[in-house]
Amino acid sequence: MSLTPPINTPKAPTPPVEAAVTEAAEEVHAAHTLADARPPSDEEILTVENLTVEFPTDDGAVQAVRGLSYTLRAREVLGIVGESGSGKSVSSMAIMGLLPKSARVRGSIRYRGQELLTLRPKEQRALRGRKIAMIFQDPMTSLNPVRSVGDQLAEAVLAHHLVPRRKALARAAEMLNLVGIPQAERRLRAYPHEFSGGMRQRVMIAMAIINNPDVIIADEPTTALDVTVQAQILEKLLEVKDTVNAAILMITHDLGVIAGMAHRTLVMYAGKPVEVAATDDVFYEPRMPYTAGLLGSIPALDGERDERLRPIAGSPPSLIRLPAGCPFSPRCPLTTEVCRTDEPELAEVGEGHRAACHHSERLAEAEDATAFFRTPEEGR
Ligand SMILES: Nc1ncnc2c1ncn2[C@@H]1O[C@H](COP(=O)(O)OP(=O)(O)O)[C@@H](O)[C@H]1O
Ligand code: SF4
Ligand SMILES: [Mg+2]
Repeated sequence: MSLTPPINTPKAPTPPVEAAVTEAAEEVHAAHTLADARPPSDEEILTVENLTVEFPTDDGAVQAVRGLSYTLRAREVLGIVGESGSGKSVSSMAIMGLLPKSARVRGSIRYRGQELLTLRPKEQRALRGRKIAMIFQDPMTSLNPVRSVGDQLAEAVLAHHLVPRRKALARAAEMLNLVGIPQAERRLRAYPHEFSGGMRQRVMIAMAIINNPDVIIADEPTTALDVTVQAQILEKLLEVKDTVNAAILMITHDLGVIAGMAHRTLVMYAGKPVEVAATDDVFYEPRMPYTAGLLGSIPALDGERDERLRPIAGSPPSLIRLPAGCPFSPRCPLTTEVCRTDEPELAEVGEGHRAACHHSERLAEAEDATAFFRTPEEGR
């Protein structure tokens, strides 16, 4: 497998981060990178504004999303990164209108200027799967095990278009071919269990693009797959995005997946965005300690990564009883008094770069932001 360099050429690289990013990008992205994709346009197609989602429970309200805002432009790939439980899936389910009835959703989600949160169920269904499509982590939960793949793909077409079944099946074969499934016409008759994990995820990509969506939400689409297959699937996703002229919301807990894959990256913690910037800036000039911690914990995909790379100690806070001040303060190596009392706002720290941290300038001054997370014995 030939490796091309990652697209994120550093401006002022700090060696340990650079090493991690380069390795991660090379391992994950073998051939087709964002550099090969068509650039985004200025047209905003998805606008999320001050989105909050709460789930009432007997113990109190779970504040799953606490004021999330972002825009997605046509053909743009926006990465949303954060540890498990940070509100990534809940916020994307809000876009799809797939949250349970108990959820209290506030704020605004607009698709091409049209508010989605006030749509009637019928209008929502018309949009879902057609203009906005979603790829989930586990294809087996979205595919019906007792129906052929061709049937299910054709049904996705027929749900939105009045065409003969024969035409829908032809479209299904065309899509399977596009996502790199050999002998597509024959494979239409196969059942999901007859496909490997990677091939099933390709079927999900085919399903997502079959109606020419404007937005593809990919929620941890490769987490369950091994590294080589993961790389192939991500490349395929980037490739087909241009075929249908779609934008991608790429959701992952692994920053390594975003390198070479996303134009911009938004980092979430405890239901809030804590850093947003061009992906290069997030990797090479992080301004929020949590981002730096994530950079230091990019998994060693080859098992031989520098030993200093480590997970962030501790775990995310309870979303029912959030700590006062900055929610990252119990785990943050830079915490001071103000962090324990005042939650920082997302503020401009550079061009197109925003971070929520009282001490972001300390990261700007640091040669290697990930070093804050090393123990004193390891040296900083
Ligand atoms: N239906 C629900 N009822 C109560 N809490 C929920 C529900 N769905 C999700 N949550 C909580 O919302 C938080 C965010 O979840 P999620 O968006 O799935 O995180 P992730 O970033 O891992 O995708 C988690 O604490 C989760 O337990
Ligand atoms: S505000 Fe304070 S606790 Fe929060 S990330 Fe910044 S330095 Fe750490
Ligand atoms: Mg999730």
